[in-house]
Amino acid sequence: MPQDVAAALIRNGGLVAFPTETVYGLGANALNPKAIRALFAAKKRPLDNPPIVHISDIGDIYKLTKRIPHDAKKLMKIFWPGPLTLIFERSSIVPDETVCGLSTIAIRMPRHKVALALIEKSGCPIAAPSANLAGKPSPTSATHVMEDLEGRIDAVLDAGPTRVGVESTVLDLTVDPPEVLRPGGTSLEKLKTVMKQVVLNPVVTAEKPVSFKQVRSPGLKHRHYAPKAKLIVVEGDLEAVVKQIVELAHRYIGSGREVGILATDETVGEYAACNLKSMGSRSNLATAARNLFKLLREFDSKGVDIILAEGVPSKGLGLAIMNRLRKASGYTIIKTDNS
Ligand code: TXA
Ligand code: MG
Repeated sequence: MPQDVAAALIRNGGLVAFPTETVYGLGANALNPKAIRALFAAKKRPLDNPPIVHISDIGDIYKLTKRIPHDAKKLMKIFWPGPLTLIFERSSIVPDETVCGLSTIAIRMPRHKVALALIEKSGCPIAAPSANLAGKPSPTSATHVMEDLEGRIDAVLDAGPTRVGVESTVLDLTVDPPEVLRPGGTSLEKLKTVMKQVVLNPVVTAEKPVSFKQVRSPGLKHRHYAPKAKLIVVEGDLEAVVKQIVELAHRYIGSGREVGILATDETVGEYAACNLKSMGSRSNLATAARNLFKLLREFDSKGVDIILAEGVPSKGLGLAIMNRLRKASGYTIIKTDNS
C-alpha cells in the first residue's frame, strides 16, 4: 500500500499497523478520541493501559507536553530516533482517551524510515501500542500482525522483520530520580553513560506478580507476551539449567505432553531432538532479543503444550529478554541454585 494512502487512513481516524525498529505498532491519530477508542477495541486492550505516542520531529513534543526536564533534552539528542520512550507531564491538547486519563504521556521517535515517513505524512502524532492482540507476544513481522489482527484493522505496512525485536525502554522523567518502567531496546548501561542517576522500578526485575498498588506503569499489571503454551523459565548456573531442562522435558514427554525447548547456541547440542530452538548465542543477546517473540509464536503454531526456556544473564539486552520471558511465563520460574 502506498504510504500516502496509509497516512490518509491514519489522518481520517483509521488503524494502520506499521514497522518500527523494535516491533510492529498499531497506529491511530493520537489527537482523535474516536480513533483511539477503535484502537483499544481492535487490540482488545484494557482501557487503563495507555499507548505510546510516536513523533517524527523532536519539535512535536512541545505541543504534547507541559515541561521538558533538562535530562530529556540530552536523552532525546543522543537516543532519538531509537528504542527509548520518555514519560512527560502531558499538555491539554492530548485527549483523555490517549493517556487513559493520566496526567502523563509516553512519547518516542522510532528509528525506522517507514514509521517516520508515515508519521510525517499523516501530519499528526501517532498513538501506537504493539500490533498484537492484548496479552500475546509482540509482532516482529507483518505476518504476526495478520495472525492477530486480520479483519480488525484497516491496513498493515510490511517492511519485513524488525531489527531489535523487543519493545522500547520506557523511562519515567516525571519522578526524581528517573525510573525505568520497562526495560527494552536501549540498555540501562547505555542510559547510565549519560544520566547522573537512573533507577529500575522494582517491577522490571520482578520474579513474581507485583501488587497492583505498586504499579505506576499501567501496562505492567496485565498478563503479557504470553504464548498459548505454558512457559517455564529455568534460571541459574548454565550446566544446572541444562540438566534441569533435560529432566523436566523427560518428565513432561513421559506424561504425553508436546514439549518445546528454547535454548541458546552454546547449549542446543545438549538436548535430544524435540521441538528445539535456539535464541542465538549467549555472547550476542541482540540476536536473542530479535528472535524471542518470533520463536514463542513458532512454538504455538507447532501446537507445543509446554515451553522450557533457558534464562540468560540480565545484562544489556538480557534485562529486557528476562523481563519478557518471566512475564510470558506468568512468573513460573525455576531457580537451579540459591541465587
Ligand atoms: O517499542 C515500542 O515501544 C512499541 C513500538 C510499536 O513503538 N510500542 C509498545 O507499545 O510497546 P505498548 O503500548 O505495547 O507499550 C506501552 C508501554 C506500556 O507498558 C504502558 O503501560 C506504558 O508504555 N505507558 C504508556 N503511557 C504511560 C504513562 N503515561 N506512564 C507510564 N507508563 C506508560
Ligand atoms: Mg505491547
